[in-house]
Amino acid sequence: MSWDIKITKNSNTNLNNTDFSSLGFGKTFTDHMFIADHYDGEWRDCRIVPFGDLELHPATFALHYGQSIFEGMKAERSSDDRILLFRPDANAERFRLSAERLAMPIVPDDLFIQSITELIKVDAGWVPKGIANTSLYIRPFLFGTDPILGVKIGDHYKYVVIIGPVGAYYPEPVNVLIQEKYVRAFPGGTGAAKFSGNYSATLLPVKEAKEQGCNQILWTDGFEHKYFQEIGTMNIFFQIGNTLLTPSLEEGTILHGVTRDSILKLAKDKGLKAVERKITVQEFLEAYENKTLQDMFGAGTAAVVNPIEGFVYHGKQYNLDFMNREVSKLMKAEIEGIKSGAIPDPHNWVMVVE
Ligand code: COI
Repeated sequence: MSWDIKITKNSNTNLNNTDFSSLGFGKTFTDHMFIADHYDGEWRDCRIVPFGDLELHPATFALHYGQSIFEGMKAERSSDDRILLFRPDANAERFRLSAERLAMPIVPDDLFIQSITELIKVDAGWVPKGIANTSLYIRPFLFGTDPILGVKIGDHYKYVVIIGPVGAYYPEPVNVLIQEKYVRAFPGGTGAAKFSGNYSATLLPVKEAKEQGCNQILWTDGFEHKYFQEIGTMNIFFQIGNTLLTPSLEEGTILHGVTRDSILKLAKDKGLKAVERKITVQEFLEAYENKTLQDMFGAGTAAVVNPIEGFVYHGKQYNLDFMNREVSKLMKAEIEGIKSGAIPDPHNWVMVVE
């Protein structure tokens, strides 16, 4: 179905004041945003309006009880000037799953995709062109707006999309802490949803990790701290011997990363052995000691494919200089090449914003 989206143009633009060579991540936004409101059981009043503040009732449900989810996607400009999205259907599906977990109305896939493509068309001039490591980041989010302090399922929600040009998410090397004090997710919890609270709950642990020289945490299970989960901003991959390994999803503690899934498929295309299974801290340490560990990287939309440079475990720093990193280099080149239209797209993942 096609949704009726009313467009109100911004009479000002910030485009000419934006320095695309020093963007950072998530600090710059375009001139417009998309908003839709849900009430009486339906999505209503779909609109693209000048980018600006949202006015919220002080009792807004999401502010008190955290009922809020989001997605992260990127648009790239190809060398022949087309604007390309990467697997937007996969993000639409995950957004539905997250909404269901948080007891919110789903945003139908056609509304999700149309809100994003129409907004990008209005702000097309903001999609970076020919500047290495830049793209247009897309942040759809959905939150409960009932002005009520009782904890119950409501009827009022806002679905908003904001977009902005970004540079690298991790400009500095990633050193991870394997810690046993905090837990990101338990089976039956919200770990698989792109739920805002999953991210805010990591702020204190990451602050403490910084005191040990680490900028991220490699989370482990909360029962025994024996099995790896994910980094929080990225899924984790290891290459041990000839096998590419990533933790399996079945316990519901790990985000179903679109980049994660793409890497698994591309690795198989390339004839690599790629396996999803439980991975123990112990086998990882053994692979480190006997140097069968060949690669270790994080994967996510914002970070793409990001090498893990080192780790801290039980207070000791380990560095990973010895690894060949052939697989992460190959996967980064493949994912970035397909996303930007520079190499063939064997799985038809790319959607052109027409
Ligand atoms: C993404 O990779 O797009 C994410 O949503 C992670 C976020 C913390 C930037």
